Amino acid sequence: MAGCSEETKKAAAETTKATTETVSSAAEDVKTSAHKAVEAAKEKAAAMSDVVAKKASEAKEAAANAVESAKEVVAPKTESAEHAGSSAIDGKALFGKCAACHGKDGKQKALGKSNVIAGQSADEVVKKLEAYKVGTRNVTGMGMTMKAQVSGLNDAQIKAVAGYISTL
Ligand code: HEC
Repeated sequence: MAGCSEETKKAAAETTKATTETVSSAAEDVKTSAHKAVEAAKEKAAAMSDVVAKKASEAKEAAANAVESAKEVVAPKTESAEHAGSSAIDGKALFGKCAACHGKDGKQKALGKSNVIAGQSADEVVKKLEAYKVGTRNVTGMGMTMKAQVSGLNDAQIKAVAGYISTL
């Protein structure tokens, strides 16, 4: 090359070398920080999966607890349903003495005064009978008459007769 002295060539060569070194060290830097970023991401992901695993096991536990308490709720219901089923016959028998005033079909106003009991729900009748039993119910002034009727009945019998009335 014309005018291209040995000196210039050397300088050019050195510049090239320096540039190469800079570039490669920059590349090294990029590599290092990329590596660091990957490591950090990996750590984060690991931590996240720990959290996820913990949450999952917590959720599993909560679900198991929910199932347990649901079982507890269902079990007595099933028992009382069985009980109600088996005492339906008792209820009809118990209603025998009530029929004298309320009518066989429960549609008579007892002693011409009471409300008609046919068509009332079992819950409603249970509440009313319990109130007569403790003496807190007296609609037509004949509360004492009803108290005498139910004072000899226990809770199961009250439920049974109420269950029968609800079918009338
Ligand atoms: C001697 C008649 C007589 C007999 C027997 C009798 N009752 Fe009554 N019953 C009444 C009278 C009267 C009332 C109204 C009482 C009042 O004033 O609150 C009444 C009220 C009721 C009521 C409340 C109705 C309402 O909605 O207000 C229910 C329920 C009931 N009786 C159920 C029964 C059952 C169950 C039996 C049988 C175990 C029975 N009764 C036996 C006379 C009778």
